[in-house]
Amino acid sequence: MENNLISLGLENVVVAQTDLSLVDGQNGLLVYRNHWASDLALNHTFEEVAHLLWYGHLPNAEEAKALHDKLAAQRELPAFVKAALDAIPADTDMMSALRTGVSLLGTEDFAAWPPTLEQVIALTAKVPTLVAYRYARLEGREPLAPRADLGHTANYLYMLKGQEPQAAHVRALDAYLILTQEHGLNASTFAGRVVASTRSDLISSVTAAIGALKGPLHGGAPSEVTEMIEAIGTKENAEPWLRAKLEAGERLMGFGHRVYRTYDPRAKALSTIATGLAGDDPWFALAVHVEEVGLRLLKEFKPNRPLNTNVEFYAAAVMRAIGLPDELFTPSFAVSRTVGWCAHILEAAQGKIIRPQSTYTGIMPE
Ligand code: SDX
Repeated sequence: MENNLISLGLENVVVAQTDLSLVDGQNGLLVYRNHWASDLALNHTFEEVAHLLWYGHLPNAEEAKALHDKLAAQRELPAFVKAALDAIPADTDMMSALRTGVSLLGTEDFAAWPPTLEQVIALTAKVPTLVAYRYARLEGREPLAPRADLGHTANYLYMLKGQEPQAAHVRALDAYLILTQEHGLNASTFAGRVVASTRSDLISSVTAAIGALKGPLHGGAPSEVTEMIEAIGTKENAEPWLRAKLEAGERLMGFGHRVYRTYDPRAKALSTIATGLAGDDPWFALAVHVEEVGLRLLKEFKPNRPLNTNVEFYAAAVMRAIGLPDELFTPSFAVSRTVGWCAHILEAAQGKIIRPQSTYTGIMPE
């Protein structure tokens, strides 16, 4: 096969059709199954949008209650998973612990192919409990049992914080989780689809996706954003600090995107939410200033590449404003993206095995 047109990182390569979402990079638009994602984030709940992605339509009241009850019934972890989580060394990072926790769920209950919606619901319900269980243990607290009377997001915050969450925090986190549920063939979704294309199983596919999300170029960026803002410390230090980074050829976390060539629509929505939550928090005022200087310097240093704010910049601000520590940023991203990963795995369950080619640069043996 003579085709030397290699697209590094599969940039601009189309490998699938999907009904799930449109990520319009030129115009900065995000659509989930014929709905604007930002409208969904403002007017619906995590569970209602998960229903849209999995079943193809927004639920009526009866369908919404049925999905809530199914998710709530599946939140608890098996005893062996809790015991295994307790055995993981305390210095193991949260995403590695989550990847292991999800992998442990891969019992006979999840072996069937194609995966069922029951499997998808059971897994999606357990991911927040895995994160909260591990976090409580690291905090030296007794993990709280999930509460069936709370919605997906409220229960997640309740288990993390050990108390009833504030309604404003639930609304803000719900909006963030909805905005990050689905985003086309990003690296972690594609990783999950590659595993699914071999007709392996749901847990193996999502375990692969978690491994990909962990990377700082992908889902690992939000904590790097807060580290950057803390390192800058003052408005006066923003320009010299950012300039030094760019002069050293390093990347500014929270900026740039493989698809968006304009402002990430999710960053726009999250910026509004963060502004409403942050009040006069000096950290947030500094973050806004860092964004402004960062965008200006990126134009100066990378004039040929439109580099704008991406979702992670203001995701960090929202999660910080509701009191989540950096170590919970990417795990919370996994809580939401499990919905999109599973939706793609369901959609592609009977697809072709994914197997691209490579050009050999060695020599043929005698
Ligand atoms: C997410 O794909 C998705 O949809 C992902 C996501 C989702 O919802 O799943 O949207 C979530 O992952 C958002 C991105 C979070 N990552 C970061 O914030 C990390 C910082 N951003 C980058 O590393 C980068 O922008 C990527 C990885 C996001 C995209 O990189 P690309 O498209 O592969 O671009 P590239 O690495 O080929 O860079 C092209 C040029 C390079 O300069 P030159 O070598 O051509 O001179 O742009 C430069 C890069 O150095 N560049 C940056 C930069 N991002 C790209 N320079 C400084 N700072 C940056 N952030």
